[in-house]
Amino acid sequence: MPVVRGKEIEVLFSASTIARRNLELAKEIASRDYHDLLVVSILKGSFIFAADLIRAMHDAGASPEVEFIFISSYGTGTVSGEVKVLRDIDNDVAGRDILLIDDILESGKTLKFTRELMLSRGARSVSIAVLLDKRTRRQTSVDADFVGFECPDYFVVGYGMDVAHAFRELPFVGVVKGDAAE
Ligand code: IMP
Ligand code: MG
Repeated sequence: MPVVRGKEIEVLFSASTIARRNLELAKEIASRDYHDLLVVSILKGSFIFAADLIRAMHDAGASPEVEFIFISSYGTGTVSGEVKVLRDIDNDVAGRDILLIDDILESGKTLKFTRELMLSRGARSVSIAVLLDKRTRRQTSVDADFVGFECPDYFVVGYGMDVAHAFRELPFVGVVKGDAAE
């Protein structure tokens, strides 16, 4: 098991497994009849997935533009979360097909809010791609059009995702198991 910052990390999705799946997702995305596609990566958690997915999309023949929106959500599963835009996109979305990219779809509050924001600005369509889907935690009617993997209900880290700002740099998705033996 890899040890990072003195903690053992159990690998759930390896770097090569993710890379293979990204190619499949990219082909699916490129086969859709999108016009004037604008990818919107939701920060911070999706930055690595988005970076890999858009390059796989290029290989699959798609030519999207790319934007970033910084969204924060407060609250836990039991408390209704407040979702806010901390940094908005610069681009006009009116009349365009939008592909939102996020790391995890959990309650769905983040993606519901962001999708409605894009639609209220006149987007022609809004699709959603997520690396991981924690379906059992859903509290909204949001579903993703493109899902990398179904995710067991563990708190996961790596490949852009953090716990208390740590572990984003891991090239795989894993679960922190505890202190490594000396
Ligand atoms: P939702 O609004 O409840 O769907 O929350 C989704 C957001 O919560 C994701 O964009 C992640 O940033 C964060 N999140 C949810 N589960 C995890 C996890 O297991 N590890 C790290 N971040 C998570
Ligand atoms: Mg997030």
